[in-house]
Amino acid sequence: MTNDPPIDSEAFKQFERDGFSKVAQGYDRAIAAQVTSQVNKAILDGVEARAGMRLLDVACGTGWLSADAVKRGAIVTGLDYSENMLVIARSRCPEAEFQVGDAENLHFESGEFEAVVCNFGILHFPNPETAIAESLRVLKPGGYYAFTCWTPPAHNPFMDLILGTVQTYGTMDVNLPPAPPLFRFGDPDECKKTLSASGFTLVSVTELPIKWTFSRPEDVMPTIIASSARLGSILSMQTGQQRQDIENAIIERAKKYATDDGIEIPSSAVLSVGRKP
Ligand SMILES: C[S@@+](CC[C@H](N)C(=O)[O-])C[C@H]1O[C@@H](n2cnc3c(N)ncnc32)[C@H](O)[C@@H]1O
Repeated sequence: MTNDPPIDSEAFKQFERDGFSKVAQGYDRAIAAQVTSQVNKAILDGVEARAGMRLLDVACGTGWLSADAVKRGAIVTGLDYSENMLVIARSRCPEAEFQVGDAENLHFESGEFEAVVCNFGILHFPNPETAIAESLRVLKPGGYYAFTCWTPPAHNPFMDLILGTVQTYGTMDVNLPPAPPLFRFGDPDECKKTLSASGFTLVSVTELPIKWTFSRPEDVMPTIIASSARLGSILSMQTGQQRQDIENAIIERAKKYATDDGIEIPSSAVLSVGRKP
């Protein structure tokens, strides 16, 4: 039994679409360019991306993974809920086709793609099993599916820095629509179980290191507010004194990660790959 409030899928999807539409430029500069794209090679290797392959990039955001797949010669379709993210993706990678759509209700024929990838999208879907089933449906037999998700704060100093500080000095209970758990698919066993139960074979799960970099400790909190939908909202919706205490604590904690090149905070993600039988 869990006491988590029920998720209103449509309300949550609306929140996601509005949130990412608002921060699209900031997300592109601070997160996609510098953070999430660090795992692109591992994802594309995982699905054996190659020239001539039809590849679908679900929740493609501003198109960095799509662009790397195009560099390998793949024929790429990118899909995202936010048109503002896609405007940036189209200018980054004119060779790919970018379409607005819902990961949980793909508007493609069954068996259209030889690979489906989803970089840090799965944690944003209210019904991830539905999104996984849709990815399986649009894959050809023998095609690969890969997704990534953050590991939880206990394994992930960056997430601990943000969320641990909110828990100490503020509250996670801000007025946001009930959301799916952020770190469900950062648990390797959960990924294996879910992909196998969804019908995938040859399931493999790998932990990948990722670094979050900032010029100064003072940049951490404003950057996350300006570039992230859910984490940014959790931070910006704290009351005045809580917000000040959280900001001070994040600055102090971030100083411990100072290097000659600025602030480098370790983090990690789980990459899950499965094959359609
Ligand atoms: C954290 S971003 C990841 C973007 C990109 N894959 C990357 O690695 O930088 C999550 C993306 O999921 C998109 N998204 C959220 N819910 C979605 C849904 N139901 N269907 C399609 N895209 C969705 C958001 O608009 C956002 O672009």
